[in-house]
Amino acid sequence: NPSPVITIDGPSGSGKGTIARLLADKLNYALLDSGALYRLTALSALNREADLTDEATLTEIAANLDIRFELRDGEVVSLLEGQDVSHDIRLERVSMAASKVAAMPGVRAALLQRQRDFRQAPGLVADGRDMGTTVFPDAPVKIFLTASAEERARRRFEQLREKGVSVSLRDLLEDIRARDARDMNRATSPLAPAEDAVELDSTGVDIDGVLQIVLQLVRDRI
Ligand code: C5P
Repeated sequence: NPSPVITIDGPSGSGKGTIARLLADKLNYALLDSGALYRLTALSALNREADLTDEATLTEIAANLDIRFELRDGEVVSLLEGQDVSHDIRLERVSMAASKVAAMPGVRAALLQRQRDFRQAPGLVADGRDMGTTVFPDAPVKIFLTASAEERARRRFEQLREKGVSVSLRDLLEDIRARDARDMNRATSPLAPAEDAVELDSTGVDIDGVLQIVLQLVRDRI
């Protein structure tokens, strides 16, 4: 009987990263931020000035990625070739590049087993786009978390403002729409709810409200 997995899929800014982290803390489960793997692949490609449309090169980069995740002062730190790149992988240009490389079947295949290796006792919370459909199809709890594009852009805007980064809300909304379109329309593992996923719309619902709903599902199913 393998360890249980809770999958949380949805578009960027739906709050899935925050919910996944709180849930993992609360249940003492391991955490997989699968988007970070695509971001690290993109950053590595950008650092090498690789051609972002060359699937063979990108697949090779994904397959040989030298990465580690470490917990430092309660925060997950992403290391690429030993360097802390936690900040860099969140940059807007890396977000855009990540959604481009994530559309390549070779890249997705190269990262598949790496993601499954995160499964461990007593359980795993995995967030991304295809956790419930492709990576952990046998997960006992699957959530598909959404929110309107406007609300997601606003959340991102607030996050960036708190960090002292100034951006335009309109640009963010455009970026979000472009990434949504790419994530939903790609041929391999498009962003879509698994048949057995519970769909939650977090527009106008606070984090704790969403967390309580998910915890109830966990109590019912695990
Ligand atoms: O979730 P996050 O925004 O960090 O993911 C970055 C990009 O990686 C997304 O825009 C998406 O294209 C891709 N991704 C994916 N499959 C996942 C997680 C992320 O295609 N499971």
